[in-house]
Amino acid sequence: MNNIRVNINDALGAVSQSAIEAMASEVRSSVNTLVEGTGAGNDFLGWVRLPENTPDTLLDDIQATAERLRSECEVVVVVGIGGSYLGAKAVIEALGNPFDVYNAACKPQIVFAGHNIGEDYLYDLQHYLDGKKFGIIVISKSGTTTEPAIAFRLLKAQLEAAVGRETAARRIVAITDAKRGALRTLANEEGYTTYVIEDNVGGRFSVLTPVGLLPIAVAGHDIKALVDGARERQKAFLSGADKSAEVYATTRNALYRSGKKIEILVNYNPRLHYFNEWWKQLYGESEGKDHKGIYPAAVDFSTDLHSMGQWIQDGERTIFETVISVENADHEVRIPSDDANLDGLNFLAGKRVDEVNKMAELGTRLAHVDGGVPNILISIDSLNERTLGGLIYFFEAACGISGYMLGVNPFNQPGVEAYKRNMFALLAKPGYEEETRAIRERIR
Ligand code: PA5
Repeated sequence: MNNIRVNINDALGAVSQSAIEAMASEVRSSVNTLVEGTGAGNDFLGWVRLPENTPDTLLDDIQATAERLRSECEVVVVVGIGGSYLGAKAVIEALGNPFDVYNAACKPQIVFAGHNIGEDYLYDLQHYLDGKKFGIIVISKSGTTTEPAIAFRLLKAQLEAAVGRETAARRIVAITDAKRGALRTLANEEGYTTYVIEDNVGGRFSVLTPVGLLPIAVAGHDIKALVDGARERQKAFLSGADKSAEVYATTRNALYRSGKKIEILVNYNPRLHYFNEWWKQLYGESEGKDHKGIYPAAVDFSTDLHSMGQWIQDGERTIFETVISVENADHEVRIPSDDANLDGLNFLAGKRVDEVNKMAELGTRLAHVDGGVPNILISIDSLNERTLGGLIYFFEAACGISGYMLGVNPFNQPGVEAYKRNMFALLAKPGYEEETRAIRERIR
């Protein structure tokens, strides 16, 4: 099995082993609530058995659609926001070569839209796509989210103007609810290829559904290995053989209760930047409720040691770190010797760059622990589809357990509606007349 090792030794200064052991029955009961589906939000637990329940025929079908887009497009625009984009972005960045922006080997290029309302972003994108063969994967579970709806309206019009409605319809794939929502209606009318996001899988838990799998397959990565990695982890979690999610969930809750209100997810591999972003959404939207919840923050080290390092070492002691450590780099790069040695680096000559990185990691961990920042260490062997599938399932399972330990419903997100109500009122959306009057009065 792909290994995920959780080491909490460096968290034990802030919370004792006995305090963690005292939470054993609490964590057990949260696991049972999750696995038996007896808690709040239990109509959104489809992800718990999703890897096992995903038929290989669906993976083959997604792969075939991906091959079609790959053969017909130079660029594929993935339109979505939140859970409808972050998982795909995280995996594609984690597995890709950041410098292969566009070349024959990585055709097509994957770009994202609908995750902001930046006019200049959309202008730049439209100009970039001008004259290129492009396709669109539009993803919205509700089918009504404003940001992707605006981007899709613009890009659909551009594509139809460039290649005609019929060819455009062949190059557009919609991933949405089986029956409801404006996107479903549109997709049915236009005859797009579609995939369904099941009702019982929430957006931020949907990376292993077509939401994540189709863009990842279009990017050329092995979705079967990704799902297999998650299947292994699901099996080990549900059989009780693997306790790593429980250990992580318990330790972060113990730290929170001891006054550590902010968790910083740390990576030492720039490919994991968007994995951190995916994790931030998963935990932030699942746990930040009822005026409770660990604040999920994230940094890329060693880059951010030169910006946030000072704060973490020396600022307010309300933080703890969770480090994702990738034990093996994919490639070997050795530091050369230099006769003049003007930069004084010959003491590193012959060493691998990853060896220096690992010493930065260890040195930082020791310094931060000494500075009063407890540390949870999560290690994986290497970055590939299988380990990422396992890691995704691990963090999802731990999130469900942790949310129940915190005493919230981890599977809703009532708080994200507040800004939408105001925005629609300000834009005078039909149906919001009363809110429009009230908000105009308020800002007068
Ligand atoms: O996790 C969630 O449910 C949200 O982040 C959604 O994914 C996000 O709001 C996008 O919603 P939709 O897919 O309905 O457009």
